[in-house]
Amino acid sequence: MNDAASLSRPRRASLWARLWRRPWFKRLFYEGLGLLLLLRRGMQVLNCGFHESGYPAFPLPLDYEPERLGLQLYHKLVAGADLTGRDVLETGCGRGGGARVLAELYRPASYTATDASRMFMWACRWRNRLPNLRFIATVACPLPFPDTSFDYLLTVEAVNLLPDKAGYLAEAARVLRPGGRLLLTDYFYTRETSGNAVGKFRAAIAASGLRLVAEENWTARAVAALESDSPRRRAEIARLPGFLRGPAISFAGTTASPLYQQLCDGRAVHLHFDLVKA
Ligand SMILES: C[S@@+](CC[C@H](N)C(=O)[O-])C[C@H]1O[C@@H](n2cnc3c(N)ncnc32)[C@H](O)[C@@H]1O
Repeated sequence: MNDAASLSRPRRASLWARLWRRPWFKRLFYEGLGLLLLLRRGMQVLNCGFHESGYPAFPLPLDYEPERLGLQLYHKLVAGADLTGRDVLETGCGRGGGARVLAELYRPASYTATDASRMFMWACRWRNRLPNLRFIATVACPLPFPDTSFDYLLTVEAVNLLPDKAGYLAEAARVLRPGGRLLLTDYFYTRETSGNAVGKFRAAIAASGLRLVAEENWTARAVAALESDSPRRRAEIARLPGFLRGPAISFAGTTASPLYQQLCDGRAVHLHFDLVKA
């Protein structure tokens, strides 16, 4: 979840940063994580989360309750949408917890959840069986769906990983029906030289076939969620094999992670974009 380039120890940072820039390494990393978590019940969401005092409680399957803050990010993402009876696509769905909860809660006609990791998709199919929910292993760009197939495209903390964000927005515009919406939340870096710079992403939106309806800054909510959820995440990490615990503390959105520091000191922002296909 973090920008490898900003890890504090220079020698390790440069190796990790160089590898993390390679799309094949990110794919391999998530496949490895998928294999590791294949049969694990926890960690059904892999995002910072959204925490706001007084946020309305929404029903969750009992075994998803511990991950409420991560699922709340999904819930908040679709707060202004009407998914019921619609065709919904999600890219970068990870372990599928968000897809499962939205498909059950809002009853879209179809919810197609996709991710580049085959391991994640196998585990998702095994764990989340709903008649309106399917899981497909595919990269987010290009997408293997015909033009104008979906009413909504959702994505949570997966765009930051894409090397070609403009290409992704073009694919979104292609697969959405007229009036269809791309609801996106992710973190971006304020440093303009980053491949995940917020300025570059805003420019890509302006040049895409999508119209910006709203942009909101959810950084404080993400920070609050990381602070509140960190003890639970650390306890989950403590159950991993020893050699993975150090990297996991840093990677998995705890208060010890570089991303948490970056969100706190303004080097990163957590944003929500609501885009519509005219
Ligand atoms: C930080 S996780 C977020 C997962 C999920 N959205 C959630 O919030 O729990 C990012 C996900 O993006 C996926 N991913 C990475 N590169 C991708 C690509 N090029 N196309 C599709 N998915 C990708 C990873 O496999 C991973 O599951």
